[in-house]
Amino acid sequence: MTDLIQALHTPVAEPGTGQVVTGTAVSRVDGRAKVTGAARYAAEHPAEHLLYGVVVSGTIAKGRILDIDTAEAMLIEGVVEVMSHMNRPKLRSFDLAYKDMTAPAGSPFRPFYDDQILYNGQPVALVLAETFEAARRAAALVRIRYEEEEHDTRLTANLGRAYTPRPLKAGYEPPPPEKGNAEKAFKAAPVKIEAEFYHGVEHHNPLELFASTVIRAEDGHLTIYDKTQSSQNSRWYVSHVFGLSKDKVTVRNPYVGGAFGSGLRPQYQLTLAVMASLHLQRSVRVQLTRQQMFSFGHRPETVQWVKLAADRDGTLTSIQHEAIAETSQIEDYVEVVVNWSGLVYTCDNIKLGYKLVSLDQYTPIDMRAPGAAHGMHALEVAMDELSYALKMDPLSLRLKNYADRAPIDDKPYSSKELRACYEQGAEKFGWSQRPLAPRARKEGSEWVGWGMATGAWDALQMFARASAVMHADGSLVVSSAATDIGTGTYTVMAMIAAEAMGLPLERVTFQLGDSTLPVAPIEGGSSHVATVGSAVAGVCDKLRLTLLRYAQADADSPFRDKRLKDVEFAGGVLRLKKNPDTFISLGTIVRNTGRERLEEKYLMLPQMLKQRKFRRMVHSAVFVEVRVDEELGIVRVTRVVSAIAAGRIMNTKTAGSQIVGGVVWGISQALHEESHTDHRFGRFMNHNLSEYHVAVNADIHDIDVIFVEEDDRIVSRLGAKGVGEIGLVSVAAAVSNAIYHATGKRIRSTPITPDKVL
Ligand code: MOS
Repeated sequence: MTDLIQALHTPVAEPGTGQVVTGTAVSRVDGRAKVTGAARYAAEHPAEHLLYGVVVSGTIAKGRILDIDTAEAMLIEGVVEVMSHMNRPKLRSFDLAYKDMTAPAGSPFRPFYDDQILYNGQPVALVLAETFEAARRAAALVRIRYEEEEHDTRLTANLGRAYTPRPLKAGYEPPPPEKGNAEKAFKAAPVKIEAEFYHGVEHHNPLELFASTVIRAEDGHLTIYDKTQSSQNSRWYVSHVFGLSKDKVTVRNPYVGGAFGSGLRPQYQLTLAVMASLHLQRSVRVQLTRQQMFSFGHRPETVQWVKLAADRDGTLTSIQHEAIAETSQIEDYVEVVVNWSGLVYTCDNIKLGYKLVSLDQYTPIDMRAPGAAHGMHALEVAMDELSYALKMDPLSLRLKNYADRAPIDDKPYSSKELRACYEQGAEKFGWSQRPLAPRARKEGSEWVGWGMATGAWDALQMFARASAVMHADGSLVVSSAATDIGTGTYTVMAMIAAEAMGLPLERVTFQLGDSTLPVAPIEGGSSHVATVGSAVAGVCDKLRLTLLRYAQADADSPFRDKRLKDVEFAGGVLRLKKNPDTFISLGTIVRNTGRERLEEKYLMLPQMLKQRKFRRMVHSAVFVEVRVDEELGIVRVTRVVSAIAAGRIMNTKTAGSQIVGGVVWGISQALHEESHTDHRFGRFMNHNLSEYHVAVNADIHDIDVIFVEEDDRIVSRLGAKGVGEIGLVSVAAAVSNAIYHATGKRIRSTPITPDKVL
């Protein structure tokens, strides 16, 4: 056992490093790489003899392409080819079965499929050149003649032709059947409100532009750096569409500069880059412009109607919530807009409805808290309206109707600490000092108002695989084809593994963002920690047992007759609980086997039978102070407290940042964000960051985040749920409600611009 003695004198961690446990605040392990530029994004990976592709976007909403004149473009020095439906390679799979894993029901858009124009901004040609500048110049010289047909992009003018969608989308739950008799209860109630809500189109606008760099090896193998929320989804899609087997394509996305849902489906730059690479047998990069990122999916425009009724004491007796949203002509994009209204407040009579109108517009795509972002907004503003009708404090109304079981189906919640969110959030905010009546407080030229709202989102868990390799030098590498869209996946997964193996964080590397790694789901729906995190914990369980087995191999091993419960993994060693001086370093265990590494693999499957018995949700209570300028109608959101119940929080720093980001976005949604369509052209007109306003530093004041104690071993073995989306939900509703409290003016649409306030 000389190794043991040696190990005693070998530091297991570098000075200044240390053990981490989940539940603490840990800075990003990839932070340095990001701020120094060492982290490369999809358009930044170098390749030899790279061709640059620039997309030419169509300028009509409906019709067909008559002719594409490329003569002038081809004269630009360095231009190699202009591709379009006219000269694209024939692809049998492209023609037959073209679908990505995340496609909704319908027939997905195929770039360059034929001469049909389905929406304004549709990619119609791709210029390929030896330099980006040449490609961009030439793209401006491609002349396209169209035959235009009449189009219609107006939702509100077409509500009469709304239809019930085909519910064929993974995870989509259509509205449940009516509970009780909501209209009858509404008619009979002493206090009631009725309200119509409108939300315009919103766009994701992640910092990183969408891009794909396709690097072609001599043997034809493609390594693709793609901006996506799942390297494996993009790999699967490329294989499927281009008929390339799994071993012919690797997709990587080690760093993603935000996505928020826009990277859930493979975007058209990927299709075009691969198509060009195969056609020209070159490496190709296609990066979209900010403008082009306004034509590949958006949060759909919605109209909603909410009717609420209550007894005089505030007991809800009827909830009715209907929504009509837009979709394209080719797919039924669906999201859960109204279902939340059956999940948050106790009520005997609930009626929910959801329909679509197909327009000459591109298919919408999930955007942070899809469905809830608009649906909960309507419900929570309506609840606020009801509170005034009852002359009741808005928080008291919510507490009065607090649901201990899901109202719509009476299922218990797997955990629900929303009450603690209300209490701690209200306490921190000082809610008890709030005057009941609106327009009660004025400071200088500003009306001051306080509003609140409840947030809800799903607590999802998918399945995932992970592998863990213990190296002879005592370092650990854990892998899964997960994604980090900026949320902190690298850090949190490394923390979970470090804690499980008793290793300092610096000895643990988590690998993600590569389609060849063990299977992981798409990073979406706030499910990554509960899913991939549980797989990481699971593979570490197996690895601990393996290490113990090997440590027992020697006949004179002090661990010979020990079981896992008798030992612990700490400080980079395996030691006896009863006698911590008896230990062996993990690296030594590996070396003693005569190998360089010990590997374990694990498949984490959710306990679906158990999970199905519960409603699994995350919750929030958001409290907001606004100041509204009396003469200018300008709204400032001066204070926000967001109290979150999302299970055990793995890393309070990165999770806190997720919630702060959500609050910032909520303020942005409330006050600024909307994509305006000029219906004469069927085109988004403010398709850039100077005209599509997002909140900037000057818009943001105090934001406090509270994580209340919650531990949910039904959603995940870690006790964790997820924090990606919940931070956004209902923030805009709380802002709306605060504006009403400040001014006495009820505004039922977003964004709440000064013209609406005055
Ligand atoms: Mo999620 S819709 O990918 O933010």
